[in-house]
Amino acid sequence: MSKTINIQDVLKRLGLKEINEGVTTGTVWYDTEGKINKSYSPVDGSLIASVKTATLEDYEKVMKTAQEAFKEWRMTPAPVRAEVVRQIGNALRDAKEDLGALVTYEMGKIYVEGLGEVQEMIDICDFAVGQARTMNGFNLQSERPMHRLMEQYQPLGIVGIISSFNFPVAVWMWNTALAITAGDVVVWKPSSKTPLTAIASHKIIEKVLKENNVPEGVFNLIIGRSSVMGDNFLDDKRIPLISMTGSTAVGKRVGERVGKRLGKTILELGGNNAVIVTPKANLNMALMSTVFGTVGTAGQRCTSTRRIILHEDIYDEFKNKMVDAYKKIKHKIGNPLDPDTLVGPLHDIHAVNQFKHAIEQVQKEGGKMIYGGEILEGKGFETGTYVVPAIAEAENHFEIVQEETFAPIVYLIKYSGDVENAIALNNDVPQGLSSAIFTQDMQEAEKFYSAMGSDCGIANVNAGTSGAEIGGAFGGEKDTGGGRESGSDAWKGYMRRQTTTVNYSSDLPLAQGIKFDLD
Ligand code: UN1
Repeated sequence: MSKTINIQDVLKRLGLKEINEGVTTGTVWYDTEGKINKSYSPVDGSLIASVKTATLEDYEKVMKTAQEAFKEWRMTPAPVRAEVVRQIGNALRDAKEDLGALVTYEMGKIYVEGLGEVQEMIDICDFAVGQARTMNGFNLQSERPMHRLMEQYQPLGIVGIISSFNFPVAVWMWNTALAITAGDVVVWKPSSKTPLTAIASHKIIEKVLKENNVPEGVFNLIIGRSSVMGDNFLDDKRIPLISMTGSTAVGKRVGERVGKRLGKTILELGGNNAVIVTPKANLNMALMSTVFGTVGTAGQRCTSTRRIILHEDIYDEFKNKMVDAYKKIKHKIGNPLDPDTLVGPLHDIHAVNQFKHAIEQVQKEGGKMIYGGEILEGKGFETGTYVVPAIAEAENHFEIVQEETFAPIVYLIKYSGDVENAIALNNDVPQGLSSAIFTQDMQEAEKFYSAMGSDCGIANVNAGTSGAEIGGAFGGEKDTGGGRESGSDAWKGYMRRQTTTVNYSSDLPLAQGIKFDLD
Protein backbone atom coordinates (compact mmCIF):
# COMPACT_ATOMS: atom_id res chain seq x y z
CA MET A 1 0.00 0.00 0.00
CA SER A 2 1.16 3.54 -0.69
CA LYS A 3 2.81 5.49 2.09
CA THR A 4 0.58 8.50 1.60
CA ILE A 5 -2.86 7.12 0.67
CA ASN A 6 -4.81 5.08 3.18
CA ILE A 7 -7.43 3.33 1.12
CA GLN A 8 -9.66 2.53 4.09
CA ASP A 9 -9.92 6.25 4.84
CA VAL A 10 -10.65 6.92 1.19
CA LEU A 11 -13.48 4.36 1.20
CA LYS A 12 -14.93 5.87 4.36
CA ARG A 13 -14.83 9.41 3.00
CA LEU A 14 -16.52 8.23 -0.20
CA GLY A 15 -19.31 6.68 1.86
CA LEU A 16 -18.55 3.07 0.98
CA LYS A 17 -19.28 0.28 3.43
CA GLU A 18 -18.39 -3.38 3.60
CA ILE A 19 -21.60 -4.23 1.71
CA ASN A 20 -23.13 -1.55 -0.48
CA GLU A 21 -26.45 -1.03 -2.17
CA GLY A 22 -25.96 -1.23 -5.92
CA VAL A 23 -29.12 0.50 -7.14
CA THR A 24 -30.20 4.11 -6.87
CA THR A 25 -32.54 6.53 -8.60
CA GLY A 26 -30.55 9.52 -7.37
CA THR A 27 -31.00 9.96 -3.65
CA VAL A 28 -32.92 6.79 -2.80
CA TRP A 29 -30.79 3.64 -2.56
CA TYR A 30 -32.57 0.30 -2.93
CA ASP A 31 -32.20 -2.54 -0.49
CA THR A 32 -31.99 -5.12 -3.25
CA GLU A 33 -32.20 -8.89 -3.02
CA GLY A 34 -29.95 -9.82 -5.95
CA LYS A 35 -26.71 -11.75 -5.59
CA ILE A 36 -23.75 -10.15 -3.83
CA ASN A 37 -20.85 -9.09 -6.08
CA LYS A 38 -17.40 -8.76 -4.61
CA SER A 39 -14.82 -6.31 -5.90
CA TYR A 40 -11.15 -7.25 -5.54
CA SER A 41 -8.27 -4.88 -6.13
CA PRO A 42 -5.86 -5.69 -8.95
CA VAL A 43 -3.25 -3.81 -6.90
CA ASP A 44 -2.89 -6.30 -4.06
CA GLY A 45 -5.72 -8.80 -4.58
CA SER A 46 -7.60 -7.81 -1.46
CA LEU A 47 -11.36 -7.63 -1.22
CA ILE A 48 -12.26 -3.93 -1.34
CA ALA A 49 -16.00 -4.23 -0.64
CA SER A 50 -19.16 -5.98 -1.83
CA VAL A 51 -22.27 -4.88 -3.66
CA LYS A 52 -25.88 -6.02 -3.41
CA THR A 53 -27.06 -6.35 -7.00
CA ALA A 54 -30.44 -5.65 -8.59
CA THR A 55 -33.29 -8.02 -9.26
CA LEU A 56 -35.63 -7.67 -12.23
CA GLU A 57 -38.16 -6.05 -9.89
CA ASP A 58 -35.62 -3.39 -8.95
CA TYR A 59 -34.91 -2.84 -12.63
CA GLU A 60 -38.58 -2.31 -13.31
CA LYS A 61 -38.94 0.16 -10.42
CA VAL A 62 -35.97 2.19 -11.64
CA MET A 63 -37.29 2.28 -15.20
CA LYS A 64 -40.73 3.47 -14.06
CA THR A 65 -39.17 6.16 -11.88
CA ALA A 66 -36.94 7.24 -14.78
CA GLN A 67 -39.93 7.46 -17.13
CA GLU A 68 -41.80 9.71 -14.69
CA ALA A 69 -38.71 11.84 -14.05
CA PHE A 70 -38.24 12.41 -17.77
CA LYS A 71 -41.66 14.09 -18.00
CA GLU A 72 -40.50 16.77 -15.60
CA TRP A 73 -36.87 16.98 -16.64
CA ARG A 74 -37.56 17.52 -20.36
CA MET A 75 -39.54 20.66 -19.47
CA THR A 76 -36.84 22.08 -17.21
CA PRO A 77 -34.87 24.73 -19.16
CA ALA A 78 -31.48 23.50 -20.36
CA PRO A 79 -29.46 26.14 -18.46
CA VAL A 80 -31.31 25.14 -15.26
CA ARG A 81 -30.50 21.49 -15.93
CA ALA A 82 -26.90 22.49 -16.56
CA GLU A 83 -26.74 24.30 -13.22
CA VAL A 84 -27.03 20.84 -11.65
CA VAL A 85 -24.20 19.64 -13.89
CA ARG A 86 -22.11 22.66 -12.84
CA GLN A 87 -22.55 21.77 -9.18
CA ILE A 88 -21.71 18.14 -9.95
CA GLY A 89 -18.46 19.36 -11.50
CA ASN A 90 -17.68 21.19 -8.26
CA ALA A 91 -18.57 18.17 -6.11
CA LEU A 92 -16.14 16.16 -8.25
CA ARG A 93 -13.47 18.81 -7.73
CA ASP A 94 -13.89 18.40 -3.97
CA ALA A 95 -13.72 14.60 -4.20
CA LYS A 96 -11.06 14.41 -6.93
CA GLU A 97 -8.26 12.93 -4.80
CA ASP A 98 -10.46 10.31 -3.17
CA LEU A 99 -12.28 9.22 -6.31
CA GLY A 100 -8.99 9.21 -8.23
CA ALA A 101 -7.47 6.96 -5.56
CA LEU A 102 -10.41 4.55 -5.69
CA VAL A 103 -10.21 4.44 -9.51
CA THR A 104 -6.57 3.49 -9.07
CA TYR A 105 -7.26 0.89 -6.43
CA GLU A 106 -10.22 -0.76 -8.15
CA MET A 107 -9.09 -0.44 -11.78
CA GLY A 108 -5.28 -0.45 -11.46
CA LYS A 109 -4.21 2.66 -13.40
CA ILE A 110 -1.54 4.84 -11.76
CA TYR A 111 -2.74 7.58 -9.42
CA VAL A 112 -1.96 10.51 -11.74
CA GLU A 113 -4.10 8.80 -14.36
CA GLY A 114 -6.82 8.16 -11.78
CA LEU A 115 -6.80 11.89 -11.08
CA GLY A 116 -6.74 12.57 -14.82
CA GLU A 117 -9.84 10.46 -15.23
CA VAL A 118 -11.72 12.51 -12.63
CA GLN A 119 -10.40 15.67 -14.31
CA GLU A 120 -12.01 14.49 -17.56
CA MET A 121 -15.31 14.25 -15.69
CA ILE A 122 -14.90 17.79 -14.37
CA ASP A 123 -13.95 19.10 -17.82
CA ILE A 124 -17.00 17.60 -19.50
CA CYS A 125 -19.24 19.11 -16.81
CA ASP A 126 -17.78 22.56 -17.52
CA PHE A 127 -18.16 21.94 -21.23
CA ALA A 128 -21.81 20.91 -20.91
CA VAL A 129 -22.64 23.97 -18.80
CA GLY A 130 -21.51 26.27 -21.59
CA GLN A 131 -23.17 24.16 -24.21
CA ALA A 132 -26.54 24.32 -22.45
CA ARG A 133 -27.10 27.75 -23.97
CA THR A 134 -25.92 26.88 -27.45
CA MET A 135 -27.63 23.60 -28.34
CA ASN A 136 -29.00 25.27 -31.37
CA GLY A 137 -31.25 24.29 -34.26
CA PHE A 138 -31.75 26.08 -37.56
CA ASN A 139 -34.06 28.64 -39.08
CA LEU A 140 -34.41 27.86 -42.75
CA GLN A 141 -35.92 29.65 -45.75
CA SER A 142 -39.45 28.46 -46.58
CA GLU A 143 -40.58 28.32 -50.21
CA ARG A 144 -44.04 29.45 -49.12
CA PRO A 145 -45.04 33.06 -48.25
CA MET A 146 -45.45 33.86 -44.55
CA HIS A 147 -44.16 30.48 -43.45
CA ARG A 148 -41.41 29.74 -41.01
CA LEU A 149 -39.33 26.60 -41.45
CA MET A 150 -37.17 25.54 -38.56
CA GLU A 151 -35.43 22.63 -36.93
CA GLN A 152 -34.84 22.06 -33.28
CA TYR A 153 -33.46 19.36 -31.04
CA GLN A 154 -35.59 17.68 -28.37
CA PRO A 155 -34.60 15.34 -25.55
CA LEU A 156 -34.75 11.64 -26.37
CA GLY A 157 -35.86 10.07 -23.08
CA ILE A 158 -34.02 7.41 -21.13
CA VAL A 159 -30.37 6.97 -22.16
CA GLY A 160 -28.76 3.65 -21.20
CA ILE A 161 -25.03 3.88 -20.51
CA ILE A 162 -22.87 0.76 -20.50
CA SER A 163 -19.32 1.60 -19.44
CA SER A 164 -16.10 -0.33 -19.37
CA PHE A 165 -13.62 -1.11 -16.58
CA ASN A 166 -10.73 0.87 -18.05
CA PHE A 167 -12.40 4.26 -17.66
CA PRO A 168 -14.80 3.23 -14.94
CA VAL A 169 -16.21 6.68 -14.16
CA ALA A 170 -15.22 9.13 -16.92
CA VAL A 171 -17.21 7.32 -19.62
CA TRP A 172 -20.32 7.68 -17.49
CA MET A 173 -19.82 11.42 -17.15
CA TRP A 174 -18.94 12.02 -20.83
CA ASN A 175 -22.35 10.62 -21.64
CA THR A 176 -24.23 11.84 -18.61
CA ALA A 177 -23.18 15.51 -18.64
CA LEU A 178 -24.41 15.84 -22.22
CA ALA A 179 -27.51 13.68 -21.87
CA ILE A 180 -28.70 15.40 -18.69
CA THR A 181 -28.13 18.87 -20.14
CA ALA A 182 -30.00 17.76 -23.27
CA GLY A 183 -33.02 16.88 -21.08
CA ASP A 184 -32.62 13.12 -21.01
CA VAL A 185 -32.45 10.91 -17.94
CA VAL A 186 -29.79 8.21 -17.64
CA VAL A 187 -29.62 4.63 -16.45
CA TRP A 188 -26.03 3.56 -15.90
CA LYS A 189 -24.83 -0.03 -16.01
CA PRO A 190 -21.16 0.14 -14.99
CA SER A 191 -18.67 -2.63 -15.69
CA SER A 192 -19.17 -5.52 -13.29
CA LYS A 193 -15.39 -5.34 -12.72
CA THR A 194 -15.52 -1.83 -11.22
CA PRO A 195 -18.81 -1.38 -9.33
CA LEU A 196 -17.41 0.55 -6.36
CA THR A 197 -16.16 3.53 -8.32
CA ALA A 198 -19.67 3.76 -9.78
CA ILE A 199 -21.31 3.72 -6.35
CA ALA A 200 -18.79 6.28 -5.08
CA SER A 201 -19.53 8.57 -8.04
CA HIS A 202 -23.23 8.44 -7.29
CA LYS A 203 -22.61 9.19 -3.62
CA ILE A 204 -20.61 12.25 -4.69
CA ILE A 205 -23.48 13.66 -6.76
CA GLU A 206 -26.22 12.74 -4.29
CA LYS A 207 -25.90 15.93 -2.22
CA VAL A 208 -26.21 18.07 -5.35
CA LEU A 209 -29.37 16.22 -6.41
CA LYS A 210 -30.92 16.73 -2.97
CA GLU A 211 -30.04 20.42 -2.75
CA ASN A 212 -31.49 21.10 -6.20
CA ASN A 213 -34.60 18.94 -5.81
CA VAL A 214 -33.70 17.02 -8.94
CA PRO A 215 -36.55 14.57 -9.55
CA GLU A 216 -35.84 11.04 -8.41
CA GLY A 217 -35.08 9.00 -11.55
CA VAL A 218 -32.98 11.50 -13.52
CA PHE A 219 -29.65 9.95 -12.50
CA ASN A 220 -29.94 6.17 -12.10
CA LEU A 221 -27.44 3.45 -11.35
CA ILE A 222 -28.14 -0.27 -11.62
CA ILE A 223 -25.52 -2.84 -10.73
CA GLY A 224 -26.93 -6.15 -11.83
CA ARG A 225 -25.89 -9.43 -13.30
CA SER A 226 -26.53 -10.19 -16.95
CA SER A 227 -29.88 -11.81 -16.16
CA VAL A 228 -31.03 -8.37 -14.93
CA MET A 229 -28.90 -5.94 -16.95
CA GLY A 230 -28.30 -7.99 -20.10
CA ASP A 231 -30.48 -8.53 -23.13
CA ASN A 232 -33.58 -7.19 -21.38
CA PHE A 233 -31.80 -3.84 -21.03
CA LEU A 234 -30.76 -3.82 -24.69
CA ASP A 235 -34.24 -4.88 -25.85
CA ASP A 236 -36.10 -2.39 -23.65
CA LYS A 237 -38.09 -0.10 -25.95
CA ARG A 238 -38.31 2.49 -23.21
CA ILE A 239 -34.62 3.23 -23.88
CA PRO A 240 -34.27 5.11 -27.18
CA LEU A 241 -30.47 5.30 -26.95
CA ILE A 242 -27.85 2.92 -25.62
CA SER A 243 -24.32 4.31 -25.40
CA MET A 244 -21.82 1.53 -24.94
CA THR A 245 -18.05 1.47 -24.47
CA GLY A 246 -16.27 -1.87 -24.67
CA SER A 247 -14.90 -4.51 -27.01
CA THR A 248 -15.86 -4.83 -30.67
CA ALA A 249 -17.24 -8.32 -30.04
CA VAL A 250 -19.66 -7.13 -27.36
CA GLY A 251 -20.40 -3.94 -29.30
CA LYS A 252 -21.49 -5.86 -32.37
CA ARG A 253 -23.98 -7.75 -30.25
CA VAL A 254 -25.25 -4.57 -28.63
CA GLY A 255 -25.55 -2.86 -32.02
CA GLU A 256 -27.47 -5.80 -33.45
CA ARG A 257 -29.90 -6.15 -30.56
CA VAL A 258 -30.64 -2.47 -30.21
CA GLY A 259 -30.81 -2.10 -34.00
CA LYS A 260 -33.36 -4.87 -34.19
CA ARG A 261 -35.82 -2.69 -32.32
CA LEU A 262 -34.59 0.37 -34.27
CA GLY A 263 -33.11 1.94 -31.17
CA LYS A 264 -30.14 4.28 -31.46
CA THR A 265 -26.63 3.42 -30.33
CA ILE A 266 -23.38 5.22 -29.67
CA LEU A 267 -20.67 2.57 -29.82
CA GLU A 268 -17.09 3.23 -28.67
CA LEU A 269 -15.35 -0.04 -29.36
CA GLY A 270 -11.88 -1.40 -29.90
CA GLY A 271 -8.96 0.45 -31.44
CA ASN A 272 -5.77 -0.70 -33.11
CA ASN A 273 -4.01 2.60 -33.01
CA ALA A 274 -0.80 3.28 -34.88
CA VAL A 275 1.87 5.94 -34.68
CA ILE A 276 3.76 6.63 -37.91
CA VAL A 277 7.32 7.90 -37.46
CA THR A 278 8.81 9.26 -40.67
CA PRO A 279 12.45 10.16 -41.37
CA LYS A 280 11.38 13.81 -40.96
CA ALA A 281 10.26 13.31 -37.35
CA ASN A 282 11.76 14.75 -34.21
CA LEU A 283 12.63 11.31 -32.84
CA ASN A 284 12.84 12.33 -29.21
CA MET A 285 9.36 13.83 -29.29
CA ALA A 286 8.08 10.76 -31.09
CA LEU A 287 9.66 8.51 -28.50
CA MET A 288 8.34 10.28 -25.41
CA SER A 289 4.84 10.53 -26.76
CA THR A 290 4.77 6.99 -28.06
CA VAL A 291 5.95 5.45 -24.81
CA PHE A 292 3.08 7.12 -22.94
CA GLY A 293 0.76 5.76 -25.62
CA THR A 294 2.05 2.20 -25.34
CA VAL A 295 2.54 1.71 -21.59
CA GLY A 296 0.15 4.33 -20.17
CA THR A 297 -2.75 2.68 -18.28
CA ALA A 298 -0.68 -0.50 -18.82
CA GLY A 299 -1.90 -0.57 -22.42
CA GLN A 300 -5.55 -0.67 -21.38
CA ARG A 301 -6.89 2.45 -23.07
CA CYS A 302 -8.93 2.03 -26.20
CA THR A 303 -6.59 4.72 -27.56
CA SER A 304 -3.36 2.94 -26.49
CA THR A 305 -0.69 2.76 -29.17
CA ARG A 306 -0.64 -0.81 -30.48
CA ARG A 307 1.47 -0.39 -33.62
CA ILE A 308 4.46 1.82 -34.47
CA ILE A 309 5.02 2.18 -38.19
CA LEU A 310 8.67 3.16 -38.64
CA HIS A 311 10.49 4.21 -41.78
CA GLU A 312 13.40 1.89 -42.56
CA ASP A 313 15.91 4.77 -42.35
CA ILE A 314 15.15 5.43 -38.69
CA TYR A 315 13.91 1.95 -37.73
CA ASP A 316 16.95 0.73 -35.82
CA GLU A 317 17.62 4.05 -34.12
CA PHE A 318 14.03 4.33 -32.90
CA LYS A 319 13.88 0.69 -31.87
CA ASN A 320 17.02 1.07 -29.74
CA LYS A 321 15.67 4.22 -28.12
CA MET A 322 12.41 2.40 -27.34
CA VAL A 323 14.22 -0.51 -25.74
CA ASP A 324 16.30 1.92 -23.61
CA ALA A 325 13.13 3.69 -22.50
CA TYR A 326 11.44 0.37 -21.65
CA LYS A 327 14.48 -0.66 -19.58
CA LYS A 328 13.95 2.44 -17.45
CA ILE A 329 10.24 1.72 -17.19
CA LYS A 330 10.94 -1.78 -15.92
CA HIS A 331 12.11 -0.22 -12.64
CA LYS A 332 8.91 1.75 -12.37
CA ILE A 333 6.39 -1.09 -12.43
CA GLY A 334 4.53 -1.51 -9.18
CA ASN A 335 1.82 -0.29 -6.86
CA PRO A 336 -0.09 2.34 -8.87
CA LEU A 337 -0.77 4.39 -5.73
CA ASP A 338 2.98 4.92 -5.32
CA PRO A 339 3.99 8.25 -6.94
CA ASP A 340 7.15 6.73 -8.46
CA THR A 341 5.24 4.07 -10.39
CA LEU A 342 4.66 4.52 -14.12
CA VAL A 343 3.07 1.14 -14.88
CA GLY A 344 0.53 -0.49 -12.58
CA PRO A 345 -1.01 -3.95 -12.82
CA LEU A 346 -3.24 -5.28 -15.55
CA HIS A 347 -6.82 -5.32 -14.39
CA ASP A 348 -7.16 -9.09 -14.04
CA ILE A 349 -5.78 -12.48 -14.96
CA HIS A 350 -7.89 -12.51 -18.10
CA ALA A 351 -5.87 -9.53 -19.36
CA VAL A 352 -2.62 -11.26 -18.38
CA ASN A 353 -3.68 -14.30 -20.41
CA GLN A 354 -4.44 -12.10 -23.42
CA PHE A 355 -0.97 -10.57 -23.04
CA LYS A 356 0.65 -14.02 -22.89
CA HIS A 357 -1.37 -15.20 -25.87
CA ALA A 358 -0.28 -12.21 -27.98
CA ILE A 359 3.37 -12.85 -27.16
CA GLU A 360 3.10 -16.50 -28.18
CA GLN A 361 1.06 -15.78 -31.26
CA VAL A 362 3.25 -13.04 -32.70
CA GLN A 363 6.24 -15.38 -32.54
CA LYS A 364 4.27 -18.24 -34.11
CA GLU A 365 3.44 -15.96 -37.03
CA GLY A 366 7.08 -15.10 -37.56
CA GLY A 367 7.48 -12.00 -35.36
CA LYS A 368 10.28 -11.44 -32.89
CA MET A 369 10.08 -10.39 -29.26
CA ILE A 370 12.69 -7.76 -28.57
CA TYR A 371 11.80 -6.67 -25.05
CA GLY A 372 9.64 -7.53 -22.05
CA GLY A 373 6.75 -9.94 -21.73
CA GLU A 374 7.58 -11.32 -18.29
CA ILE A 375 4.96 -11.73 -15.59
CA LEU A 376 6.49 -10.31 -12.41
CA GLU A 377 6.65 -12.41 -9.27
CA GLY A 378 7.72 -11.88 -5.69
CA LYS A 379 7.03 -9.23 -3.11
CA GLY A 380 4.44 -6.71 -4.22
CA PHE A 381 3.56 -8.77 -7.30
CA GLU A 382 1.60 -11.60 -5.63
CA THR A 383 -1.53 -10.94 -7.71
CA GLY A 384 0.21 -12.14 -10.88
CA THR A 385 -1.16 -9.10 -12.73
CA TYR A 386 2.06 -7.10 -13.03
CA VAL A 387 3.79 -7.52 -16.39
CA VAL A 388 6.79 -6.04 -18.13
CA PRO A 389 5.54 -4.10 -21.17
CA ALA A 390 6.56 -5.84 -24.35
CA ILE A 391 7.91 -4.79 -27.75
CA ALA A 392 7.72 -7.11 -30.74
CA GLU A 393 8.80 -6.79 -34.33
CA ALA A 394 5.96 -7.86 -36.59
CA GLU A 395 4.21 -7.42 -39.88
CA ASN A 396 0.96 -5.61 -40.22
CA HIS A 397 -0.91 -8.49 -41.81
CA PHE A 398 -0.25 -10.93 -38.91
CA GLU A 399 -3.55 -12.07 -37.44
CA ILE A 400 -2.51 -11.04 -33.94
CA VAL A 401 -1.49 -7.58 -35.16
CA GLN A 402 -4.91 -7.16 -36.73
CA GLU A 403 -6.54 -7.73 -33.32
CA GLU A 404 -6.76 -5.41 -30.33
CA THR A 405 -4.87 -6.95 -27.39
CA PHE A 406 -5.88 -4.97 -24.32
CA ALA A 407 -2.44 -5.12 -22.70
CA PRO A 408 0.98 -3.44 -23.05
CA ILE A 409 2.37 -5.10 -26.15
CA VAL A 410 3.36 -2.95 -29.10
CA TYR A 411 4.32 -4.08 -32.59
CA LEU A 412 7.10 -2.37 -34.57
CA ILE A 413 6.34 -2.42 -38.28
CA LYS A 414 8.78 -1.27 -40.97
CA TYR A 415 7.86 0.75 -44.04
CA SER A 416 9.88 2.10 -46.91
CA GLY A 417 9.31 4.79 -49.51
CA ASP A 418 6.71 7.53 -49.14
CA VAL A 419 4.35 8.38 -46.34
CA GLU A 420 1.51 6.97 -48.45
CA ASN A 421 2.88 3.50 -47.74
CA ALA A 422 2.79 4.15 -44.00
CA ILE A 423 -0.77 5.51 -44.24
CA ALA A 424 -1.83 2.36 -46.08
CA LEU A 425 -0.49 0.25 -43.20
CA ASN A 426 -2.15 2.53 -40.66
CA ASN A 427 -5.49 1.94 -42.37
CA ASP A 428 -5.05 -1.75 -43.05
CA VAL A 429 -6.71 -3.04 -39.84
CA PRO A 430 -10.40 -3.59 -39.06
CA GLN A 431 -10.50 -0.87 -36.38
CA GLY A 432 -10.43 2.92 -36.83
CA LEU A 433 -10.19 4.80 -33.55
CA SER A 434 -6.97 6.77 -33.16
CA SER A 435 -3.82 7.41 -35.17
CA ALA A 436 -0.82 9.72 -35.16
CA ILE A 437 2.08 10.82 -37.30
CA PHE A 438 5.38 12.25 -36.17
CA THR A 439 6.93 14.46 -38.82
CA GLN A 440 8.16 18.01 -39.24
CA ASP A 441 7.28 17.88 -42.91
CA MET A 442 4.15 19.79 -43.79
CA GLN A 443 3.28 17.73 -46.85
CA GLU A 444 3.49 14.47 -44.94
CA ALA A 445 1.34 15.87 -42.16
CA GLU A 446 -1.28 17.27 -44.50
CA LYS A 447 -1.50 14.02 -46.42
CA PHE A 448 -1.99 12.14 -43.16
CA TYR A 449 -5.17 13.98 -42.23
CA SER A 450 -6.45 14.58 -45.75
CA ALA A 451 -9.15 12.53 -47.48
CA MET A 452 -6.45 10.11 -48.63
CA GLY A 453 -5.03 9.91 -45.12
CA SER A 454 -5.84 8.14 -41.88
CA ASP A 455 -9.30 6.55 -41.82
CA CYS A 456 -9.59 6.89 -38.03
CA GLY A 457 -11.84 9.08 -35.89
CA ILE A 458 -8.71 10.70 -34.44
CA ALA A 459 -5.67 11.68 -36.54
CA ASN A 460 -2.97 13.58 -34.63
CA VAL A 461 0.22 15.26 -35.76
CA ASN A 462 3.19 15.28 -33.39
CA ALA A 463 0.90 14.14 -30.58
CA GLY A 464 0.28 10.51 -29.59
CA THR A 465 -2.80 8.36 -30.07
CA SER A 466 -4.05 8.46 -26.49
CA GLY A 467 -5.00 11.23 -24.11
CA ALA A 468 -7.61 13.04 -26.19
CA GLU A 469 -9.09 16.25 -24.77
CA ILE A 470 -12.83 16.25 -24.09
CA GLY A 471 -13.44 19.29 -26.33
CA GLY A 472 -13.33 17.31 -29.56
CA ALA A 473 -15.78 14.62 -30.61
CA PHE A 474 -14.43 11.26 -29.45
CA GLY A 475 -14.95 8.02 -31.36
CA GLY A 476 -13.92 6.06 -34.40
CA GLU A 477 -14.84 4.30 -37.61
CA LYS A 478 -15.12 0.72 -38.91
CA ASP A 479 -14.98 -1.86 -36.09
CA THR A 480 -14.67 0.96 -33.56
CA GLY A 481 -18.39 1.43 -34.01
CA GLY A 482 -18.85 4.91 -35.44
CA GLY A 483 -20.20 6.65 -32.34
CA ARG A 484 -19.14 10.08 -31.13
CA GLU A 485 -19.31 11.33 -27.57
CA SER A 486 -17.76 14.12 -25.48
CA GLY A 487 -17.15 17.52 -27.10
CA SER A 488 -17.91 19.36 -30.32
CA ASP A 489 -21.49 18.66 -31.43
CA ALA A 490 -21.65 15.16 -29.90
CA TRP A 491 -24.67 16.43 -27.89
CA LYS A 492 -26.78 15.92 -31.01
CA GLY A 493 -26.47 12.17 -30.51
CA TYR A 494 -28.46 12.52 -27.29
CA MET A 495 -31.37 14.41 -28.86
CA ARG A 496 -33.98 13.87 -31.53
CA ARG A 497 -34.29 16.25 -34.43
CA GLN A 498 -37.58 17.89 -35.26
CA THR A 499 -38.54 19.98 -38.29
CA THR A 500 -41.38 22.46 -37.82
CA THR A 501 -43.29 24.52 -40.38
CA VAL A 502 -45.35 27.43 -39.04
CA ASN A 503 -47.88 29.10 -41.32
CA TYR A 504 -48.60 32.66 -40.22
CA SER A 505 -50.60 33.59 -43.34
CA SER A 506 -54.35 33.11 -43.79
CA ASP A 507 -53.87 30.86 -46.83
CA LEU A 508 -52.91 27.23 -47.10
CA PRO A 509 -50.30 27.03 -49.86
CA LEU A 510 -48.87 23.54 -50.31
CA ALA A 511 -45.23 22.80 -50.91
CA GLN A 512 -44.09 22.07 -54.47
CA GLY A 513 -46.95 24.30 -55.73
CA ILE A 514 -49.46 21.47 -55.46
CA LYS A 515 -53.08 22.57 -55.89
CA PHE A 516 -55.64 20.61 -53.90
CA ASP A 517 -58.90 22.55 -54.09
CA LEU A 518 -62.13 20.91 -53.02
CA ASP A 519 -64.27 23.34 -55.04
C1 UN1 B 1 -10.97 4.72 -23.50
O1 UN1 B 1 -9.88 4.19 -23.35
O2 UN1 B 1 -12.03 4.06 -23.39
O3 UN1 B 1 -8.02 9.69 -25.27
C2 UN1 B 1 -11.12 6.16 -23.75
C3 UN1 B 1 -7.92 9.05 -24.24
C4 UN1 B 1 -8.97 9.26 -23.18
C5 UN1 B 1 -10.15 8.41 -23.46
C6 UN1 B 1 -9.86 6.96 -23.57
N1 UN1 B 1 -9.35 10.63 -23.16
O4 UN1 B 1 -7.05 8.23 -24.06
